[in-house]
Amino acid sequence: MSLQQQLTEILGDAFEAEGMDREFGEVVVSQRPELADYQCNGALAAAKSVGRQPREIAEAVARRVEAPKLIESIEIAGPGFLNVVVADASLARAVAAMEHSERLTVESVDDPRTVVVDYGGPNMSKALHVGHLRAAVIGESLKRIFRFLGYNTIGDIHIGDWGMPVGQLIVELQDREPDLAYFDPEYDTAVSGSYPAESPVTLDDLSEMYPVITKRCAEEPDTAERARQATFDLQNGRDGYLALWRHFHDVSVAEQRVDFGALDVEFDVWYGESTVHDRLAPMVRDLLASGVARESDGAVIIDVEQPDDKKEMPPLLLTRSDGSYLYSTTDLATIDMRVGDMDMNAGLYVVDARQALHFEQVFRAARTAGYASDETILEHIGFGTVNGTDGKPFKTREGGVLRLGDLIGLVTDGARERLDEARIAEEYPAEERDAIARQVGLAALKFGDLSNHRMSNYVFDLERFSSFEGKTGPYLQYSAVRIKSILRKADDAGLSPGALLAPTVHQERVLMLRLVRLQEVIYRAADLRGPNVIAEYAFEVATDFSRFYEHCHILSEEDSNRQASWLSLVEVTLRTLDLLLDLLGIEIPERM
Ligand code: ARG
Repeated sequence: MSLQQQLTEILGDAFEAEGMDREFGEVVVSQRPELADYQCNGALAAAKSVGRQPREIAEAVARRVEAPKLIESIEIAGPGFLNVVVADASLARAVAAMEHSERLTVESVDDPRTVVVDYGGPNMSKALHVGHLRAAVIGESLKRIFRFLGYNTIGDIHIGDWGMPVGQLIVELQDREPDLAYFDPEYDTAVSGSYPAESPVTLDDLSEMYPVITKRCAEEPDTAERARQATFDLQNGRDGYLALWRHFHDVSVAEQRVDFGALDVEFDVWYGESTVHDRLAPMVRDLLASGVARESDGAVIIDVEQPDDKKEMPPLLLTRSDGSYLYSTTDLATIDMRVGDMDMNAGLYVVDARQALHFEQVFRAARTAGYASDETILEHIGFGTVNGTDGKPFKTREGGVLRLGDLIGLVTDGARERLDEARIAEEYPAEERDAIARQVGLAALKFGDLSNHRMSNYVFDLERFSSFEGKTGPYLQYSAVRIKSILRKADDAGLSPGALLAPTVHQERVLMLRLVRLQEVIYRAADLRGPNVIAEYAFEVATDFSRFYEHCHILSEEDSNRQASWLSLVEVTLRTLDLLLDLLGIEIPERM
């Protein structure tokens, strides 16, 4: 149990002994650190329900508290807050417990349910660009947070590979190369052999074709009609189109693997909309038969409106009037598949905030259809946009969309400049310097993103993100690397960590108090689906450490017990930072 949980138990007992609900004993971190370490506001809440004065309740509760080993003092402040100062020795014990625990005493959940994190979500045939950054970075972090807490997590990229864009690309390719076998309806694989193994297009070709054909479809009704037909034919299993689809898919995925790999983003499964294609026809049939879905002007829809809706809630479109399937159809079938085949208990969809309505419709439909029960959590984890310094969505200097690969190049170069400027890692071999620049660049990029609340838009400011000062990824990496070097120096001097002693220096105590909050911070980040909670705390740990290190001259300390205790504290700090950065998807260089 964390210190905070132990205090909550003790206060809960005291409230109970006073005849009140133990829930009132909840202890939180003090808002006035100069007065107390923790506080309990329960007396104020209890006063309303039991009709006693809050101060009087607080006094009675305080009298009941008997935990001399844990609590140094408990005092009543203001209208009835209970202010708790923990005993120094218990603080040291809590840090020592972290030292001896592989998980730094963070408890795993008792009931490890399956959480599917749906993130990344690139469409097939498109090179990854800056617009994919947030989904990838936030999703990866959430997946790591839930995984660390003991959930069975499955990160699914959910590629957009089964909708209209594929039909459009088929049409565009046909117009460019009408003689390809894929377009010949008479082509018989039994006679002429299977379709060519080599893709007729590269991902670059597809990326170039895509905007051309979307524009054409907007302007030329018969092209749009052909694209719709091609989509329908593909979805109904036309051989040549399926073969073509496979090529589009494979060339896209090959490059997406490289791009996500370069970001250190790893998916457990590379499913896509197409993964459920066999389910679509029977699903629509069943939903119509059971009355969940109905026909409307030739299309099939599911009504998802509820009586208390405040905003308009249009029905979910399940098939177009030509019978083709949509984004909504595959998302609905995917929920059925995830619950049925993957035992999903919670689905977290890390997708641009602008898709909120879509997910609301899909989730409602999934419940109406019985694919997800009331116990199944389905949540859209939205996020805002990445803007340029001009406040508009981030673009290259030429006004184009920046490719993810180029973005990584950009931040790596930025990191290299900063390293030069700060004369960090100057004398290391070129290869190591490159590796460090890459790690620092990614840290700048990811922390720059994750330190914001996910729903806010933020300005992509490479200068600021890659600085070694302030609330940045590179600062945190540098702090961790510095700690490693302190430990190395100590080791070289023959010093080793030893029993943790009660703190004697203010900055040492502050650092300890910070560290023992780790468990609450990670659970809070998970509850809020907010990696920013981890980012903020990591920064606080690093700054508290640097103040401690400034005041406590570890390597020259004469009291060897004190010195050994400090080294243990240093070690716990490093492991904590290491864990926190890992939860953000950020690596720490061995040295820099
Ligand atoms: N491919 C979609 C897009 O580009 C995002 C997919 C998100 N995930 C989902 N299950 N719908 O907008």
